[in-house]
Amino acid sequence: MKVTYYGHSCFAAQVANRTLLFDPFITGNELARAVEVTKLPADYILISHGHADHLADAADIARRTGATLVSNYEITLWFGRQGISRTHALNHGGGWRFDFGRVKFVHACHSSSLPDGTYGGNPGGFVVESADGNFYYSGDTALTMDMKLIGESTPLRFAVLCLGDNFTMGVDDALRAAEFVQCREILGCHYNTFPPIQIDTAAARAKFKAAGRNLHLLAPGESLNL
Ligand code: NI
Ligand code: MN
Repeated sequence: MKVTYYGHSCFAAQVANRTLLFDPFITGNELARAVEVTKLPADYILISHGHADHLADAADIARRTGATLVSNYEITLWFGRQGISRTHALNHGGGWRFDFGRVKFVHACHSSSLPDGTYGGNPGGFVVESADGNFYYSGDTALTMDMKLIGESTPLRFAVLCLGDNFTMGVDDALRAAEFVQCREILGCHYNTFPPIQIDTAAARAKFKAAGRNLHLLAPGESLNL
């Protein structure tokens, strides 16, 4: 499955000829200046929670592409009030079969207020199951025991895990999360964008390697087949 990283927690996965774009935050991310946000393709935009560093560009991309926006109930309502009519609301533990595969909204331990102060529901992550393979995106979260449930129920080809510390899991907890979800191929996200989430990338890669796992840390715009 082709995965393209666009900086911070934004990435796209090609699933069954559909482009799934997660947590678009390009405008305002100094590290993603090479990414042309007005050209990003999307058939679906999946939003993990209400913070601006996960949805800043979502409305513009949804309007331009006509993509369906998938998030929790409160966040889809908020986008609906901005004229985004194609939405699909999920809530924790629930899944829905789309034309590319099934998406389940899973627990994340974080917060989720929207940029204008509107209540943004509870934050989540996504498990995507498809004929092309399954993957998990953690969103912003602490390490939780609930991650073991994902590993027990769904064989994952890869997982996208936050690991910048301070606001979310750091590298050590992300490594434990990789063990909990029983996944070898990890794409790291939510690091280096801001001063509080700077990590030592070489040390992080080495820690994962020593534990028999591959940590992929991509440059914004870089793609990988996972
Ligand atoms: Ni957040
Ligand atoms: Mn965040």
